[in-house]
Amino acid sequence: MRIKIRDFEIELDDVGSRTPLLFIHGYPLARKIWQPQLDDLWDIARMIAPDLRGHGSSQAVPGPYSMDELAEDCRAILENLGVKQRVVLCGLSMGGYVAFAFFRKYPERVAAMILTATRAGADSAEGRAGRDKMIALAQEQGVSAIVDAMLPKLFAPATHQARPELVEDVKLIMNRMSLEGVYGDLAGMRDRPDSTPTLADIHVPTLILHGADDQLIPPSEAEKLRDGIKSATLKLLPQAGHLLNLEQPKLFNEAIRDFWQTL
Ligand code: MLT
Repeated sequence: MRIKIRDFEIELDDVGSRTPLLFIHGYPLARKIWQPQLDDLWDIARMIAPDLRGHGSSQAVPGPYSMDELAEDCRAILENLGVKQRVVLCGLSMGGYVAFAFFRKYPERVAAMILTATRAGADSAEGRAGRDKMIALAQEQGVSAIVDAMLPKLFAPATHQARPELVEDVKLIMNRMSLEGVYGDLAGMRDRPDSTPTLADIHVPTLILHGADDQLIPPSEAEKLRDGIKSATLKLLPQAGHLLNLEQPKLFNEAIRDFWQTL
């Protein structure tokens, strides 16, 4: 469905009933990555999966997209849908950075967190320079150059080998991203704050899910999250890279079902 928030249009899926579960995708992705979850978990949750601004079928607006702005979009989406209950936030990678920003702004709105393939720290000086290089690459050679640079690192070697069609599907999703959106995300992530001090404030139940073969954000980052959040448990999924929910959907969904029992 399509809704208007603030002054632009957002496309989203809203599936199931009961406890609201807000899925926040990463960069340069879209809500379609949550399809294996939307198809399976509708009996336990009301799943809301938006395309963030500049992604998928949502409208692009000029960047940078700060993590605070993206969190504010998430709040506006929930308000537009009339969601009054506390929500479970499930953020993947950049979606996790947005989840931290949302938690800082609206802790009273958060029932639990699922932090997927993400990290708390800000970009290092080298990381920030890397973002600028990617911005220049996108501006000079287009979005497909970014996609070609990232795609090999997004999946576990086992996924590249066994599921080339999944890699192709994700490539299509990424190539649909607007140049404006790519710039918005890259500049927003480059300038994002360090969320490490936030970890000690998180007292809601938290599940950390990470691919054992993640080449973009190493599992050691997930261990840091577990060590920093008192109420957290960590599950490392085997033969899974950065897009573990697509690479190991059964294990990923089972982990969410088990977590749900504890809420
Ligand atoms: C993502 O998957 O959202 C991004 O790769 C995260 C990042 O670049 O820091």
